[in-house]
Amino acid sequence: MTTDPTAATPRSHPADDGTLPEGCGPSTLAVHAGEQRQKLADSITDPIVCAATYTFRDTQAVLDYVQHDLPREEYGRYGNPGERVLERKLAALDSGEDAVLFATGMSAIVGLLMAKLNAGDEVIFFDECYHRSREFCVKHMSRFGVVTHQVKVCDYEAMEAAINPRTRLLISESPTNPHLSVVDLEQFVQIGRRHGVETLIDATLATPYNVQPLRYGVDYVLHSATKYLAGHNDLLAGVIVGSKAALEPVRKLRGIMGAINSPHNCYLLQRGLKTFELRMARHNQNGQAMAEFLAAHPRVECVLYPGLPGHPCHDVARRTMRGYGGLITFLVRDADWRQTADVVDAVKLPRIGPSLGGVESLIEQPLVMSYHEVAPEDRQRFGISDNMIRLSCGIEDTADLIADMRQALDRT
Ligand SMILES: Cc1ncc(COP(=O)(O)O)c(C=O)c1O
Repeated sequence: MTTDPTAATPRSHPADDGTLPEGCGPSTLAVHAGEQRQKLADSITDPIVCAATYTFRDTQAVLDYVQHDLPREEYGRYGNPGERVLERKLAALDSGEDAVLFATGMSAIVGLLMAKLNAGDEVIFFDECYHRSREFCVKHMSRFGVVTHQVKVCDYEAMEAAINPRTRLLISESPTNPHLSVVDLEQFVQIGRRHGVETLIDATLATPYNVQPLRYGVDYVLHSATKYLAGHNDLLAGVIVGSKAALEPVRKLRGIMGAINSPHNCYLLQRGLKTFELRMARHNQNGQAMAEFLAAHPRVECVLYPGLPGHPCHDVARRTMRGYGGLITFLVRDADWRQTADVVDAVKLPRIGPSLGGVESLIEQPLVMSYHEVAPEDRQRFGISDNMIRLSCGIEDTADLIADMRQALDRT
């Protein structure tokens, strides 16, 4: 062997296919999973391939592709190279076999339901599931003959009792929004398995950093990637992770629906994911510290956060989750809606707006932001009170967020 490096024989790197060592942690996966080691032009970043269509060298190349399903692009509505990198990365983060990326979280759930359900089928929701998902089933799937049942969140007996031979899917969010209820995934999966019914968890608030529902045997995990996964309040996306076979019809339907991400959007999401683990650690830290601060403040009547020992789901959360995220819901003591709004208006760091999971903290009053058109008795049924505030802790310094919240509560 020569000792002169300039005389060494060229050889390909053994890990050129992007295969990672076994057992990598979430930060390594977020940075590297799904990516080729060497990329176009030897760039360290993936290219943004701006193409609506992809060309074939000759007719034989077309025949090879259509007859042998070769892994290459065809037309932009069926996918793009950036999206495939993301799907591999997101599947790896959730310990899943495959992932299908959608343009939004809502198009992901709509795509899954439309691909899986037929007229006469039934689905059962825990009632705290994201209200637009429930609305889609109740108002729209019903037009195609699909029946939706809703049972009280975490009432496993009621969920099992609602199953009949037409039931196809059990659906829950975990943790739920805005009440932060945490589903016991073992029980949830057991019910599904006992009756041969598939299960779906919307784990948007948890993210794969805090819980991986597929490891418990859940069939599909859904994320609004708009939130923590993208993390910067600058794009919309959604993903469903599960087995390749189960997701095949979902992928096919997405190609028809066209609910796909542009190459630029994919690049932004991939870039956001690079710091996913670091951001989640800070979101968890800020959420826990803020929840503890609020719980001790005399102006606060109640704090909903699964990391607090008083939360009804604390034991399940402690058993199944690594951390509890940045979202906190709290009630202002003896406050009407206007006095509650005064607290929202008095904070200086969190911006007022819907959504969650971004680096910037966001604050909102659910009554005003999302439930203003809902009748008071229905709001009561959904557990939305006039003095409720939802705070999404970003990644600002913990002490700054707490000092800001203290001045807002003390001043109003
Ligand atoms: C828990 C949850 N699931 C799904 C969605 C829908 O995601 P998107 O807004 O990306 O369509 C949201 C959005 O707020 C959400 O909070």
